[in-house]
Amino acid sequence: MTCKAGVATASHHRWRSDLRRHGNPPRVWSKPGKGCKLHLANMKRLHLFEFEDQPWLPGFLRDAMTAYLASAYTIAPIPQLWAKEISRVIQVTGHQQLVDLGSGSSGPTPLVVAELARLGHPVTMTLTDFYPRPFEGSAAIRYWPRPVDARDVPEELGGLRTMFAAFHHFDEAGAARILADAAARRMPICIFEGTSRTIPAILSSLVIPLLVLVLTPRVKSLSWQQLLFTYLIPVLPVLISWDGLVSHLRTYSAAEMLAMAQAIPQPGYQWRTGEIALKEFPVGLPFLVGWPVPPTA
Ligand SMILES: C[S@@+](CC[C@H](N)C(=O)[O-])C[C@H]1O[C@@H](n2cnc3c(N)ncnc32)[C@H](O)[C@@H]1O
Repeated sequence: MTCKAGVATASHHRWRSDLRRHGNPPRVWSKPGKGCKLHLANMKRLHLFEFEDQPWLPGFLRDAMTAYLASAYTIAPIPQLWAKEISRVIQVTGHQQLVDLGSGSSGPTPLVVAELARLGHPVTMTLTDFYPRPFEGSAAIRYWPRPVDARDVPEELGGLRTMFAAFHHFDEAGAARILADAAARRMPICIFEGTSRTIPAILSSLVIPLLVLVLTPRVKSLSWQQLLFTYLIPVLPVLISWDGLVSHLRTYSAAEMLAMAQAIPQPGYQWRTGEIALKEFPVGLPFLVGWPVPPTA
């Protein structure tokens, strides 16, 4: 099997990742026989526009788009696998307060927090976004009411940072700023993508319109606008499909994220990268986690 340099392949179709210190290449899961050839990490990353990022997009459409996303997390156990990764970082750092960046309509966070509690980490989480959404909080999860730019997290929001399906929204300079700020403030950060720059993932965008039609009834607090612009005037299936396709094309590979992290001159901070593999998906979903290492006595 041919494979691009710097990416190790695993010989089985299960979740694989590995602890990696600065300077080491990442180990990236890949489906044997064909997964490796399907990677497009050598293809230039395309930072095309997403509707969700446009300030002119009416707020109700932006909210409806992320509300749909939040409902889509119920179809595969991705949030639970992400929680497993976060629990490893919690074990090392002891953080019980989490700050989520680019939270949208809460995304997978209720499922992640529930899974963390099941794993023995009864965390609290503060959700944040450049466009904060209305959210009915709970004892464990609240929404920060003021806009928070993920590239410039206010000092008062301390805790382990998480980011779900949002890192690809940032160009390389912005993405590097997010990593550098976490490392400089010695805050752990866990970044997960729900997309991947691979042929199967890009092709899977074709089914998004159908998924929107099927999953919209699962949206929490479904508004009449969401129903109207999904079923009668199908604007939302078009917007969500375009953003879904572009998200795949924008997604940094695990190797790219690690290279970005390694370029940050921050001693005493460790990074780990890899891909989350699911039997439902033919490709892995990249992630990067980083945490401060206590100085050895
Ligand atoms: C694809 S949505 C993901 C939302 C949620 N994390 C999820 O998984 O459903 C990306 C989110 O990033 C937010 N975002 C974009 N640019 C941002 C920025 N500079 N700072 C903070 N959030 C930002 C958008 O408003 C949007 O809610």
